[in-house]
Amino acid sequence: MCGIVGCIGVSNAKEVLLNGLSRLEYRGYDSAGVALVNNGDVIINKCQGKVGQLADSVKNVANTSTTGIGHTRWATHGVPSDVNAHPHQGHNKRFSLVHNGIIENHAALRERLEDQGINFTSQTDSEVLVCLIESIAAMSAVSGEEAVRLALNEVVGAYAIVVLDSEDPDQLVVARKSSPLVIGVSKDAYYVASDATPIVAYTKEVIYLEDNHMAVLAASKPPVIFSIDKATPKPPYIENLEMDLQSLEKAGYEHFMLKEIHEQPTSIADSLRGRLSGERALIKLGGIEQYENRMASARRIIIVACGTSWHAGLVAEYAFEQLAGISVEVEYASEFRYRQPIITSDDVVVAISQSGETADTLAALELAKSAGALVIGVCNVVGSSIARFTDAGVYTHAGPEISVASTKAFTAQVTVLTAMALRLAQINDHIKKDVVSQIRDQLLEIPGFVEQILKNTTQYEAIAKDLRDVRDVLYIGRGLSFPVALEGALKLKEISYIHAEGYAAGEMKHGPIALIDTDTPTIIIAPGDRHKDKTLSNLQEIKARQGRVLVVTNQADTSLKQQADWLIEVPPTHEVLTPLLTCIPIQLLAYYIARQKGCEIDQPRNLAKSVTVE
Ligand code: AGP
Repeated sequence: MCGIVGCIGVSNAKEVLLNGLSRLEYRGYDSAGVALVNNGDVIINKCQGKVGQLADSVKNVANTSTTGIGHTRWATHGVPSDVNAHPHQGHNKRFSLVHNGIIENHAALRERLEDQGINFTSQTDSEVLVCLIESIAAMSAVSGEEAVRLALNEVVGAYAIVVLDSEDPDQLVVARKSSPLVIGVSKDAYYVASDATPIVAYTKEVIYLEDNHMAVLAASKPPVIFSIDKATPKPPYIENLEMDLQSLEKAGYEHFMLKEIHEQPTSIADSLRGRLSGERALIKLGGIEQYENRMASARRIIIVACGTSWHAGLVAEYAFEQLAGISVEVEYASEFRYRQPIITSDDVVVAISQSGETADTLAALELAKSAGALVIGVCNVVGSSIARFTDAGVYTHAGPEISVASTKAFTAQVTVLTAMALRLAQINDHIKKDVVSQIRDQLLEIPGFVEQILKNTTQYEAIAKDLRDVRDVLYIGRGLSFPVALEGALKLKEISYIHAEGYAAGEMKHGPIALIDTDTPTIIIAPGDRHKDKTLSNLQEIKARQGRVLVVTNQADTSLKQQADWLIEVPPTHEVLTPLLTCIPIQLLAYYIARQKGCEIDQPRNLAKSVTVE
């Protein structure tokens, strides 16, 4: 998704913007640009390509600006090109704008502006917005910020914008609706960005601009915040960032993904810290404490999520049903929001989202809330839109996840959701208290087990060499291993571009087995649980058709060792906790295969870290 940065009141705006855009590269993009105020003039440089190319194009531009805006574009309207890159300027060159989101009524607005004789240079909806602002400012004697506000009241869609007014270059106007925007506050300067990663280098004091609000930022003056519809003033609320700069570096790893895979012993421990207290084996999730009884007695829990987070939801379904006896439905947020689902005030809707900004998940939550359901969030980014929208929630505390492919966020989500299921089990006594305590104690052992798995990664390089040129891979599992199979397939396809499908192992005979031949390997997730024997019968069926099989297990017996072409062992643990261990080998497998293929692992083609548009 697009990335926005802006600054005012600094002495080196070019450097601040370029560093900020580099921090946002992980969001995925295809072009980049900056607008800098130099001696009252606004100079724009933008190009298709990477931030490094942009930096080359501005290397002779003075680094003395006090004010500027920058953007990384992930194309929605209009192909990736220099002219479609942001910042965009109005037809009178007064206003410059960067935008993240989609202006849904851009066509009608464009037509109206063209009727006024305005010519557009790009195919983008963002240029329509800045020309609308320009048109309003030209036709009515209002301030720049008022022209922005009036224009936004004519817009339908999602936006996070930063606007530079050449007639008033000592301020930035920012606004957001359904797309995130964070304002960094320091003594004499302001920084604004799509998320906190470009800001943390300069200040830890931030304002999370609320939805449907805008702000005027002028150096050495307090921020002026007001609602977009009625211009109702809103006092600024400054919060402290938990993030630190060091967590945004690769720390010696070749890719952020590998770093984040290896961070999992720590991130899983962090997601449990202070929540599984020693005495009386109590589980304490402060964020939902006031609603836990309502959750424990819920008619059903509906989980809404996308991608990897949806896979974490499938694991949670097993955990909530088996441990707490609560009926659970897991929904793709993108389907749920349009299906006209039956939702009542008896329902509890849990949104799982690493970024807390996924548009479909946020929209599903808005639908649930409007129907009176209790809405709960499980997010990783503090202050994110979903975290702020829900009635309550639990942060996963996995730390910033930079690589587009989610790894530590997934295990942190599963950890927190399992702890949540155990807490609800403690309340409604669905299972015996000593079983809850036993699982709770084994949950605390998981970081150490993950550490053990990560100690021996050499086998993955060898397996990756064997599998790097395959065209199709099947992942299968039963019960709690089914979501792990789905997650493995997603990891492989999104970073190595190898086609991979995850299936419930019981489904093999209903079609997928037709795919088996010597060229299509199958990854079988088969821990020593109640499903193992049935899943291993799948293994025989595959081998009988010359299929090659990689087995991930925590119970490697002789027959398995003889039959599997590749065998990866993980430590044994309670059945409900096995996904936290069996998912580690499939993360490593995807990583090393993609690395063998020389893929752009942290920023795979076409993908974005946070899908803030539909
Ligand atoms: C997972 O590796 C992908 N990056 C993607 O499927 C991701 O999980 C999905 O877009 C949901 O993102 P969220 O957790 O931030 O809502």
